[in-house]
Amino acid sequence: MDGNGRWAESQGLERGQGHHQGYLRLRDILLDADSLGIEVLTVYGFSVENWRRPEEEVGGLMSLIHEAARQELRLLVSENVQVHVAGRKEGLPDWLRESLDAMVEETKHATGIKFCLALNYGGRAEIVDAVRACMADGLEPEEVSEESISARLYCPSLPEPDLIIRTAGEMRWSNFLIWQAAYAELHVTPSTWPDFTADELIQAVLAYQSRTRKFGGLSAEA
Ligand code: FPP
Repeated sequence: MDGNGRWAESQGLERGQGHHQGYLRLRDILLDADSLGIEVLTVYGFSVENWRRPEEEVGGLMSLIHEAARQELRLLVSENVQVHVAGRKEGLPDWLRESLDAMVEETKHATGIKFCLALNYGGRAEIVDAVRACMADGLEPEEVSEESISARLYCPSLPEPDLIIRTAGEMRWSNFLIWQAAYAELHVTPSTWPDFTADELIQAVLAYQSRTRKFGGLSAEA
């Protein structure tokens, strides 16, 4: 969800207002994705690297996510959204963890779109944590495999992403789902996240559908 800061600057607003606008956009895009039949939507809400930002911005983001989790719970339940959280939860403030846990708990039986919020998330940290879990589970070196690591990622029940959309024209990967994205298709749009519309989501899906996925082989099969 890149470009909140640039959007705010372009409007003569504070960065925090850009993040607030980004949250409102996320609320709409989640419902749009559900209407389009998208089964899983994962968003990068806060990375392990984002702690390097000024304290005021970090605090503002934590409060925004906490408020959103409390305010949107009823909507998430009524829309049958199943919420997941990916990342190092132990690094988050207790009050945020509690509101996130409540959201996950109260939506765990939902059968609609799965919404995964990546918070205090880093792709490398996730792989490290999965390997540590393999060791804690007593796996022998020869038992460490792609399957045993995949089974110990933060959200093992979620499928690998088919499509990754990066807003604000950034051409970097930024440590997002680096294990799961091995065969994902990438769509980059110049729109900042607060300007990202349902129409753009449809364009991204259409572009994705026109591609042939070969998974390293010669034909379109996994
Ligand atoms: C990146 O844009 C965006 C973030 C680091 C924060 C994303 C968070 C939200 C959209 C709020 C999410 C709310 C909920 C409820 C999950 P940037 O700040 O790096 O933008 P810039 O590159 O233009 O400065």
